[in-house]
Amino acid sequence: MQESEVPSPFSLLAELTHRCPLHCPYCSNPLRLARREEELETGTWLRVLDEARDLGVVQVHFSGGEPLLRRDLEALTARARENGAYVNLITSGVGLDRTRVRRLREAGLDAIQVSVQAARPELSDRIVGRKAWEEKRQAALAVKAEGLPLTLNVVLHRFNLDDLEPIILMAEAWGADRLELANTQYYGWAFLNRERLLPSVEQVARAEEVYRRHAERLHGQMELVWVVPDYHADHPKPCMGGWGRIGLTVSPEGDLLPCPTAGVIADLSFPSVRTWTLARAWRSSEAFNRFRGFQWMPEPCRSCDRRFVDFGGCRCQAYLLTGDAARTDPVCRWSSDHFIVENTVMEARELTHAGVPGTMRGVLRIW
Ligand code: SF4
Ligand code: FES
Repeated sequence: MQESEVPSPFSLLAELTHRCPLHCPYCSNPLRLARREEELETGTWLRVLDEARDLGVVQVHFSGGEPLLRRDLEALTARARENGAYVNLITSGVGLDRTRVRRLREAGLDAIQVSVQAARPELSDRIVGRKAWEEKRQAALAVKAEGLPLTLNVVLHRFNLDDLEPIILMAEAWGADRLELANTQYYGWAFLNRERLLPSVEQVARAEEVYRRHAERLHGQMELVWVVPDYHADHPKPCMGGWGRIGLTVSPEGDLLPCPTAGVIADLSFPSVRTWTLARAWRSSEAFNRFRGFQWMPEPCRSCDRRFVDFGGCRCQAYLLTGDAARTDPVCRWSSDHFIVENTVMEARELTHAGVPGTMRGVLRIW
């Protein structure tokens, strides 16, 4: 693709920190987490936000780790808003009391997404490795009390899929405007823990039926979003809406990434905001251009009609499963590597783990 043909991105995922009070075993953050002293300073983030505006970005998502741990969150929110962006906060809810919500709202925050793990407090707390459910509930109520739109995000896996109905009822009771039912995507820590997280085919089918029933019942009242379980699908997701097509990520230490987990691809090097402008990185860097468009695709993607829908799937997944990011995503049933996914699902099914996620290796505490 010629540089002049590269479309502008519309969203920026600003990962402000990898520090986090929780230890979720499905975390997609990298195994090597950025340390506090490696994080970008406020001034650099403000410049990043200005460059994002100049590049055409109209949505800024502050994420992490736990972005509330950054004391400059209000200042960054205010700048993103001044720049005309829709500003969203993605948080665990830990540390989000009504005063903080109000400060963020006054700074210009448009919406908040709170993660929750289960409707049962004891299961939710075991998944994240500490008592947090009640704090999350209070955070959700504070968001509503301050009049901001509330999204609840629940990452689904073997240990909570059977509890989907109570989870939906809980979201309703908490007044959520939107509920994301996000089947685990296997990157980072989730990839490491995937044998224990992978649900059975039957579990997924039962949960999908519950989702459909309630999505219909709640139509017009609460939006339910079902993020397809990759390893159980026939075709891959249109990851990131296509590589270098609609969004970019800035990691806590300032790497410019086409997707949050792209750093795992060892033979790609990523530009840093310390030495590159966002515009130059977006248009000219090898990292953003390597898998842009359709020319890079191997068969069967190259001659497949679905390439306009899924853009050949996920490059990180291809890399993690085959060691080559340029191969067809093995989730696709037409990929010659599809057996890797099938075998993984089968092997996970045969494992009889008695343990619950609290006993799994979670994110190392670096706080
Ligand atoms: Fe998508 Fe490639 Fe599979 Fe076609 S062959 S469905 S483009 S991953
Ligand atoms: Fe990186 Fe899909 S997660 S391209």
